Amino acid sequence: MTRRTVGVAMNGVTGRMGYRQHLVRSLLAIREQGGLDLGDGQVVWPEPLLVGRNEAKLRAMAERHGLSRWTTSLDDALADPDVEVYFDAQVTSARQSAVRRAIAAGKHVYCEKPTAVDLNGALELARLARAAGVKNGVVQDKLFLPGLRKLKRLVDGGFFGRILSVRGEFGYWVFEGDWQEAQRPSWNYRAEDGGGITMDMFPHWEYVLHELFGPVRSVQALVTTHLPVRWDERGRQYAATADDAAYGTFELEGGIVAQINSSWSVRVDRDELVEFQVDGTHGSAVAGLRQCRVQHRSTTPKPVWNPDLPATESFRDQWSVVPDNAGFDNGFRAQWELFLRHVVLDEPWSWDLLAGARGVQLAQLGLESSATGRRLNVPALEEIR
Ligand SMILES: NC(=O)c1ccc[n+]([C@@H]2O[C@H](COP(=O)([O-])OP(=O)(O)OC[C@H]3O[C@@H](n4cnc5c(N)ncnc54)[C@H](O)[C@@H]3O)[C@@H](O)[C@H]2O)c1
Repeated sequence: MTRRTVGVAMNGVTGRMGYRQHLVRSLLAIREQGGLDLGDGQVVWPEPLLVGRNEAKLRAMAERHGLSRWTTSLDDALADPDVEVYFDAQVTSARQSAVRRAIAAGKHVYCEKPTAVDLNGALELARLARAAGVKNGVVQDKLFLPGLRKLKRLVDGGFFGRILSVRGEFGYWVFEGDWQEAQRPSWNYRAEDGGGITMDMFPHWEYVLHELFGPVRSVQALVTTHLPVRWDERGRQYAATADDAAYGTFELEGGIVAQINSSWSVRVDRDELVEFQVDGTHGSAVAGLRQCRVQHRSTTPKPVWNPDLPATESFRDQWSVVPDNAGFDNGFRAQWELFLRHVVLDEPWSWDLLAGARGVQLAQLGLESSATGRRLNVPALEEIR
């Protein structure tokens, strides 16, 4: 076995996503298992260079995980010839300029979504990466969730017949921060810092809908801020200027209608924090993060509407659980492995910055639809490829 070291500058690694999902659960987990076996006698060994603003935090993190490389200078990181890949999980508002610099330095780039705060910025990055000939990717972790993998299996296997509609429910109560600490960073609730649930979640819905059911052709959304005041990490009250709920309707190519509610101001009465119900002529499914249940047309009951009588059957018991039939790795790690293979072996890869731009486009159009009260078409971006 030959070891192929890939230097990865990881920016935003002190954040929730950068640390837990990308450093610990992805790159360090790959190292703990001896590296990524490419199956051709090579093992990829990711070598993180931690990049951030706070020297003490970076040093402590490096020591905690036996890493030797960290810097507070993005320029130094990008000038390092051992760094092949620049990874960005900073706050959204800081991403575009940093990724732009990484592309200019000739690095391959991989980053969190949304790739920029608006479509122009996202398209600029896609174009720059293409012109520079660097490999590029955007996190699309929800595709790797066990529940959605099972749902995709059902789609691919023709279980649904003709798919009619998709209903998604995402959300949970994010505490205001006064009498109980908020469980999300406060920048998420400030528009001026790149926050807002539409910008956060519509990029996810774009690739989920696109990959499972077809591209989104129009969007109509009602976006609102239910809780206008919150308390930040230091207990200070602030104005929540960003949207905390988005009620969206999406028309997909081929006529499938998708409705997805996204909210940080909703209490959970579901089995999982996100669930999608898909109804088709031959069957229906409900998929969450991990589980997926189905009801075939042959086992569909015939309820009769009669509000005068209590329900006589338990509708939820009439569904069957879809078995795993496979092992499911952490989704972030699974996508990292594919990206590293793409970098080293040039294997095909479609979750690039242009795909990321589609997510930003849908978020931007969702916001515009809400502001103008109109349903908006979603033009295809593919022509810049
Ligand atoms: N794929 C997913 O499921 C998913 C989930 C949550 C967040 N995200 C994305 O990941 C990114 C980071 O989100 P997070 O929840 O980890 O945020 P976070 O606040 O926990 O982390 C933000 C990171 O950015 C750094 N940073 C750089 N410039 C900053 C600035 N000017 N102000 C504040 N922090 C700054 C912080 O030091 C920190 O390392 C966001 O773009 C978000 O949209 C993706």
